[in-house]
Amino acid sequence: MRREDLSSVLEWRNRPEVRSCMLTQHEIRWDEHCAWFERASRDPRKRLFIFEQEGSLGFAHLSCINATVAEWGFYLAAGAKKGAGTLLGLATLRYAFEELALHKVAGQALADNSRSIALHHKLGFRREGELRDHHFDGEQHCTLICFGLLQQEWYEKWVGQNE
Ligand SMILES: CC(C)(COP(=O)(O)OP(=O)(O)OC[C@H]1O[C@@H](n2cnc3c(N)ncnc32)[C@H](O)[C@@H]1OP(=O)(O)O)[C@@H](O)C(=O)NCCC(=O)NCCS
Repeated sequence: MRREDLSSVLEWRNRPEVRSCMLTQHEIRWDEHCAWFERASRDPRKRLFIFEQEGSLGFAHLSCINATVAEWGFYLAAGAKKGAGTLLGLATLRYAFEELALHKVAGQALADNSRSIALHHKLGFRREGELRDHHFDGEQHCTLICFGLLQQEWYEKWVGQNE
């Protein structure tokens, strides 16, 4: 992601369908978004990506929590085609495991986010547990589902089969 992507990414992030899936659900202001980008782009633990394939667009990030383990997050722009989530996930994970040589990528989804949960399973993540009533969205407590994918599992599922 580059500075010139800022306005597109803010538009995608502020879509009601995306906001409702995030832990921070308020409409993000331009100054807040720019401050986030300045912080994140100076942080060597973070990688921010724009996904673009066959007219579908999206954003993903990898945020290292130590030398070899990262958390990730992602969302699609309006009008993304069916299957775009899978392609965004595969591209981001390929970078994580093959370019950065990470050992593990971890993800979290709100328990009612069935699309993200299905996508994590489809990509090969294992469900590692749940954090019950862990997040308070201002009105209610929400449960988070935790996922993890190890580098070896990535190679076995997505690379080994093509060799
Ligand atoms: C999560 C997100 C990227 C998934 O994108 P997507 O376009 O559904 O992804 P795909 O079309 O590749 O679908 C992946 C799988 O999800 C499942 N799925 C798709 N649409 C679904 C729906 N409406 N309900 C439940 N599961 C669904 C299917 O199992 C599908 O695989 P299949 O088609 O091979 O069976 C997208 O919905 C999004 O941007 N959501 C808002 C942001 C978000 O939730 N980010 C993640 C936060 S943890």
